[in-house]
Amino acid sequence: MNKNIQRLYDIAGKAERIIIGLMSGTSVDGLDVALCRFSGAGLDVPIRLLAFETVAYEEDFKKEIAAVFSRRDADLEKVTLLNGWIAQQHAAIINDCLKKWGRSPAAVDLIASHGQTIFHAPRRLHHLEKFGNATLQIGDGDHIAVATGIITISDFRQKHIAAGGEGAPLAAYGDFLLFSRKGENRIMLNIGGIANFTYLPGSLHANEVFCTDTGTGNTLMDAFIRKNYPGKYFDENAQIASRGSINEALLAALKDHEFFAQGFPKTTGPELFNLQYLDRAKQRSQSTTVSNEDTMATLNRFSAETIADAVNAVAGNGQPFSLFVSGGGMHNPLLMEHIVSLLPGASLKNTAVLDIPPDAKEAVLFAVLANEAVGGGNIHFGSGRNGIPGVSMGKISFPL
Ligand SMILES: Nc1ncnc2c1ncn2[C@@H]1O[C@H](COP(=O)(O)OP(=O)(O)O)[C@@H](O)[C@H]1O
Ligand SMILES: [Mg+2]
Repeated sequence: MNKNIQRLYDIAGKAERIIIGLMSGTSVDGLDVALCRFSGAGLDVPIRLLAFETVAYEEDFKKEIAAVFSRRDADLEKVTLLNGWIAQQHAAIINDCLKKWGRSPAAVDLIASHGQTIFHAPRRLHHLEKFGNATLQIGDGDHIAVATGIITISDFRQKHIAAGGEGAPLAAYGDFLLFSRKGENRIMLNIGGIANFTYLPGSLHANEVFCTDTGTGNTLMDAFIRKNYPGKYFDENAQIASRGSINEALLAALKDHEFFAQGFPKTTGPELFNLQYLDRAKQRSQSTTVSNEDTMATLNRFSAETIADAVNAVAGNGQPFSLFVSGGGMHNPLLMEHIVSLLPGASLKNTAVLDIPPDAKEAVLFAVLANEAVGGGNIHFGSGRNGIPGVSMGKISFPL
């Protein structure tokens, strides 16, 4: 037997697995690295976060990604070069983290690598009859496996699409396994570049679980800041938005898009929510002269209202629910103030009370997917009618 197959077989049978979860979202702010220990697999799996760090990307890295990210005119040679290069950068970050944490790569069973999304093209966005849902993450797993010596599970989203999903959001699986509680309806809201949430019914019925994007989280605000405030990447602590006031006409134009009228679940990306989207809304609402501060105040409110509208559509039937927030947007005080005021029925918490720090959650969820792919895979989400086909996801890359 190939020694790597034997090794994987042994890992699959272990009572405990040490897995590094990696996440780099549409914000392209840094790589989230979560070292996790799983005792078993499946629903309610005991998990411990042993170490976590977000390693901020260097300017050069951000520049390279920005050259291709969600761009229809991206240079194919550049995409090809980046596929291996990003993986090598990620591997170097992992090796540094392990050194810093005093852990040897031999003590890590698996890496779960999301890769860097460069284009998300569900059919609802590309509208091309003959093509199905599509998405592309680069940063190939083979390079990570070889450079770290650790078996790497990567490229999770393709199986989801192959099984009938849109390739996103994948949070439903890990949210269900880690955070479901009998008798408590929970909403796990993640505000990254794009905002999404998972609804976890207190009934624990997997076929009632679902997960959807709600629209822009930070991506549109970030894009506006990056364009108009060179050197800044986001509206830190909402300093700029807080100085402006909401322009109601612009807000209405921003909300006037078919995406918001479509049923759940649905996914989107910066391919839609970008500066052209803002410019078009400004033109339609005759607000092209709105100041930067007012634009930011309006974009901030736009994220909050579309998040709250989606949550209310799912959980606003009078039943109490707990709302657990994660993702970088939770550090935006104005955004959170809006969301709290728009969701009076929610009891607001963050995942720290569930022993997973909110900034680590997404990376942990990918570690859960790898744990399931190798050592679990027995969870059935019914017919998959909620966009959650019952599949295990991820491709296996072996070291040398
Ligand atoms: N202190 C803060 N004030 C305002 N926004 C913040 C703050 N910290 C993080 N963010 C926002 O969170 C984003 C990163 O969120 P993250 O969850 O890492 O998203 P992604 O999964 O897309 O990488 C940043 O780009 C920024 O918009
Ligand atoms: Mg991030």
